Amino acid sequence: MDIANNCRVCNNKIEPFMTFGNMPIANGFLKEEAFKDEYFFEMKPSFCNKCFAFQLIEQPDAELMFNESYPFFSSLSKHMQTHFDNFANSVINRFLKSKDSPMAIELGSNDGIMLRHFKDAEIKHLGIEPSQNVAQIAKEKGINTISEFFNEELAVKVLEEYGHADVMFAANVMCHIPNINSVFAGISNLLSKDGVLIFEDPYLGDMLNKVSYDQIYDEHVYIFSALSVISICERHDLELIDVEPQVTHGGSMRYFIGKKGSHEISNNVSKIIMNEEKKGFKEISTYERFRDNCEKSKKELLELLTKIKDENKRVVGYGATSKSTTVLNYSEIGPDLIDFISDTTPLKQNKFSPGAHIPVKSYENFSQNPPDYALLFAWNHKKEIFEKETEFEKNGGKWITFVPRVEIL
Ligand code: SAH
Ligand code: TMP
Ligand code: ZN
Repeated sequence: MDIANNCRVCNNKIEPFMTFGNMPIANGFLKEEAFKDEYFFEMKPSFCNKCFAFQLIEQPDAELMFNESYPFFSSLSKHMQTHFDNFANSVINRFLKSKDSPMAIELGSNDGIMLRHFKDAEIKHLGIEPSQNVAQIAKEKGINTISEFFNEELAVKVLEEYGHADVMFAANVMCHIPNINSVFAGISNLLSKDGVLIFEDPYLGDMLNKVSYDQIYDEHVYIFSALSVISICERHDLELIDVEPQVTHGGSMRYFIGKKGSHEISNNVSKIIMNEEKKGFKEISTYERFRDNCEKSKKELLELLTKIKDENKRVVGYGATSKSTTVLNYSEIGPDLIDFISDTTPLKQNKFSPGAHIPVKSYENFSQNPPDYALLFAWNHKKEIFEKETEFEKNGGKWITFVPRVEIL
């Protein structure tokens, strides 16, 4: 367990502003015989009033979350495939076209959803992916991958073997790594003089706005804002040079970072800082308001599900997401309210959801015997899901969502 009584970024003393209670490993789908040994930690978010980093006080050790049975396979979503097609092309066109023999490094490359485009374009690349099962899939696709956790020490070894990187990128990875200073020190060492780091993660602004508190789970030790990213950069002679909002994962931000003084800084940077200041990202009262909104959302969802159950209607969860672990455990929703959760990931099927112990079943269980209500856990894939679930709606099925508010759609 990694416990921070001081800010992970700047060492300032920090306090939690709320607790979500005891939480299991969000992606720890398990068999019945493992219930008795299930791991729990108290999930308490905190906000540092010095560097503005939103972070968890406690985080389970990395090996408990990222190992040979990590059940998140990036390429399972068609929309994410398109997202990474576009991301890869934009990186190649904006930063690598003019270079001869460029080198690209990705942290948390998973099953190769992004790097496959670099392989296809015959660009020298390296994926650093600690979860062995997903790394293996990338290797089988011919993508150069090592199965390690990235940190400052690994960066030294990578530098010796591969030389400097012209671009480094990470999608939905940076927010997972507690020792962010070690990661940024490693990146600062690995990047060439005019090299660029591009990373994207769920954005604090979207989470506060939509009350999408389910973005907070064991893996997400940080929810970043531009203000907090700037604070981290400043400690490593790096600077934020551009930002681009993304629609993925319910609202993300892409940050572009270069060595101090090596790049022109886009106007987008001053605009986002002004906006974050205006929205109160530096003030504790903003987070206290978020806490009250979480409590309201929890209460409303529980009431709605209880009412539906009293009417003898069936509810099935749609998508056994890591995010759903937070919703179910925080709201104390169990198999008494939800029959099962439908999910397309074989590694999750025929297991139980972490903590709440709701059965996870294959999609066929949903499509062949549709429930009265589908509780949309994979709300970040709403567009993709609604496009393919027209039959469910035509036959009278209804959706329940809880982001941005609890409602029947
Ligand atoms: N980039 C992919 C995968 C995100 S899931 C996508 O956006 O879909 C997060 C990934 O980060 C996991 O595959 C996990 O194994 C990896 N990861 C966790 N800690 C890491 C570290 N210290 N260095 C590199 N990768 C890490
Ligand atoms: P994510 O929100 O972390 O991307 O996880 C999405 C989960 O939802 C993943 O386990 C796959 C599942 N899923 C479905 O079961 N059906 C779908 O149509 C989609 C898009 C996802
Ligand atoms: Zn701090």
